[in-house]
Amino acid sequence: DQKFLTMAIESSCDETSVAVLADGRTVLSNVISSQIAIHTAFGGVVPEIASRHHLENMNRVVEQSLTEAGVTLDDIDLLGVTYGPGLVGALLMGVATAKAMAFAKDIPLVGVNHMHGHISANFIQYPDLKPPFMSLIVSGGHTNIVEMTDYGQCNVLGGTRDDAVGEAYDKVARVIGLGYPGGPKIDIAAKEGNSQAIHFKRVFLEKGSLDFSFSGLKTAVLNYLNTEKQAGREISVPDVAASFQAAVIEVIVKKAIEAALDKRQDKLVLAGGVAANSKLRCDLQAECDKHGIRLYVPDPVLCTDNAAMIACAAYYKYQTLGADDLYLDAYPSLAI
Ligand code: KG4
Ligand code: ZN
Repeated sequence: DQKFLTMAIESSCDETSVAVLADGRTVLSNVISSQIAIHTAFGGVVPEIASRHHLENMNRVVEQSLTEAGVTLDDIDLLGVTYGPGLVGALLMGVATAKAMAFAKDIPLVGVNHMHGHISANFIQYPDLKPPFMSLIVSGGHTNIVEMTDYGQCNVLGGTRDDAVGEAYDKVARVIGLGYPGGPKIDIAAKEGNSQAIHFKRVFLEKGSLDFSFSGLKTAVLNYLNTEKQAGREISVPDVAASFQAAVIEVIVKKAIEAALDKRQDKLVLAGGVAANSKLRCDLQAECDKHGIRLYVPDPVLCTDNAAMIACAAYYKYQTLGADDLYLDAYPSLAI
């Protein structure tokens, strides 16, 4: 029997990725070309450089994805592409490539919201998972608690009022000298540190609020470093990493569980780059177990930016909303 093939492109930040999926959830290929090594020299992603590298890599990544999947462009039934949120120049590279292929081969095209992609990574990981469920999305650019009521449909219950979780990790890593990308480096360093060495305030905001604020924590880390330096005391990087991480994770775990209990959802779906964090996965699992909630977490490769999750989201969006036309544009601040 004939499989329905979706090919998707993800280029919203510093990963050029192209994937081919069969029937929406089976990954035939998921090629990810990372620019991390290039941006490390600058301490973070430089948007203009990211766009240029997407341009250089795109055709090769498309070809490799088709080859690994054992198909040609003529076999593709649907094209998906991230059209926001993200860096505008980077997004445009993906959107232009997808439109060109859609036009040349007369393939239907669907623009995918990057955040819906992150959630959809879980549909790949768990073939039986279906909405409704509660979801915690923690990435470099976004932090949200959303209730997913159906494929592609969600109610946003909370979000960050300043920095995203991944952004806080990256900024703190920079000031303690761990470099870019900070998240994985803090994750590793924290394993050697004492999470109770320094007490950083947990910011819960107003009672009942599912919003977040992390910029104060970032400042608290900076103040701690300055105070210690002025007093001539040695700083333990693992202790700062562990103490910072404990403050972040305690808040996001509490709020995610509170949201699931409030809305009587017994499924909690974790998504986004920070979902690769070992302590977050472990602490969230322990709290879910206490409350009879089943936790869904994708493999780390599906947590960080990749096109397989975009293809999966495209597959479901096409079924409910149909195709977009060739006027599809990039929206850097697209809301979830
Ligand atoms: O989802 P993603 O790949 O890109 C965005 O859409 O933003 O997320 C990247 C973010 C970065 O801030 C990175 O530091 C963080 O995810 N991250 C981690 C870990 N792996 C990636 N944060 C904490 N622990 C990790 N193991
Ligand atoms: Zn992402």
